Amino acid sequence: MNRRAFLKKVAKSFFLILSISILPLLSYLYPVRVREKAIQFFPITKEEELPEKGIRRVDFSYEKNGRRINANVYLVQSNNGLIALSPVCTHLGCIVKWSDIKGEFLCPCHGGRYNSEGMVIGGPPPAPLNRLPVETRDGVVYIGLKV
Ligand code: FES
Repeated sequence: MNRRAFLKKVAKSFFLILSISILPLLSYLYPVRVREKAIQFFPITKEEELPEKGIRRVDFSYEKNGRRINANVYLVQSNNGLIALSPVCTHLGCIVKWSDIKGEFLCPCHGGRYNSEGMVIGGPPPAPLNRLPVETRDGVVYIGLKV
């Protein structure tokens, strides 16, 4: 075996070992369950029960892996149409509450504050409240969740 053939074999072996060792890492970074999750829409309220303007918290439940999960979402009638906001603070995951008096979402944990459309206006949250897919069909409001 000459030197060139030997170096080719070494390079091929190196890339083969590298690609085999990267597969578990890729699988860890991009797990199958995340890849396969699709958005499912759940009915949460009737369209006629929405306020014409303002914010309403809606409690609802859905089934995941045979278990009933209770959840809630804030529906906001804004100038841009209907918005659905997750109540989970983007700082460390506490549940925010809407304050009619202040006109803001307030986080009880570290003083995070969001405006009526979920944008951060104070405190440590690094990002706005998550917007969830929302749509109305036949007079029913549906919320989209990855379950
Ligand atoms: Fe909301 Fe920290 S968890 S501000």
